[in-house]
Amino acid sequence: MLNKERMPEHVAVIMDGNGRWAKEKGVPRLVGHNAGMQAMKKIVDHSDKLGIKHLTVYAFSTENWKRSMEEVSGIFKLLVKWVASDLKGLIDNNVRVKVLGDYTVLPEDAVKSLEKTLEATKDNTGLQFNIALNYGGRDEITRAVKSLAKKVKDGALEPEDITEDAISAELFTGVYNADAPDPELIIRTSGELRLSNFLLWQSAYSELVFPEVYWPDFTPEEFEKAIADYQSRERRFGGRK
Ligand code: FPP
Repeated sequence: MLNKERMPEHVAVIMDGNGRWAKEKGVPRLVGHNAGMQAMKKIVDHSDKLGIKHLTVYAFSTENWKRSMEEVSGIFKLLVKWVASDLKGLIDNNVRVKVLGDYTVLPEDAVKSLEKTLEATKDNTGLQFNIALNYGGRDEITRAVKSLAKKVKDGALEPEDITEDAISAELFTGVYNADAPDPELIIRTSGELRLSNFLLWQSAYSELVFPEVYWPDFTPEEFEKAIADYQSRERRFGGRK
């Protein structure tokens, strides 16, 4: 049973294992991604039901461009399909969508779908669903450093003003974009035990949970188990009990 008093405000998910799920079933990788998309939709709905404020998913990393053209374009086609089928539901459910990452370099129809979604949901006040697309933690920190350096060069900022808060503000999760708190909980499915360039700055004190199941098999029940695991941990933030 979940403790409603200790629900995480922000849960972030590395949706790993679509390819292995497909391989085990003897179907193309894109069938795995499609099944992953269905799993993702259920987790969005469930996060909303649980009263979680922010759900972030790692949908496409800055490294995922190395995959075959067929797989890359297939993932973006899924994104367009998702917006076409689910945008109305997102609006009805008061979900606000934000993107983490420079999505402007994605295929044109994907950029258009995303812009439509961002615009149509921008005033919603329910669950905030952050989709990391063309996202890399090091890329994000590099961009933040460049932006701060430019402000110093332009005389708008003193080097002494470069605080942790000033850096956080410049990230994709910062006040100028998604305005999301650091995730209390990061889940990576499929048994892999890495962060893979995901939310490197924001994960400083996150609790990490690694369910064994492949992402397409990650159900709302598995999600609740991961949250229960988080709730059983003692968080000390470097201090003592
Ligand atoms: C990781 O599994 C998954 C991805 C890189 C893509 C995630 C995409 C989706 C869940 C569907 C699309 C959703 C959006 C919003 C575009 P993997 O392929 O690395 O699996 P493997 O490690 O088993 O090969």
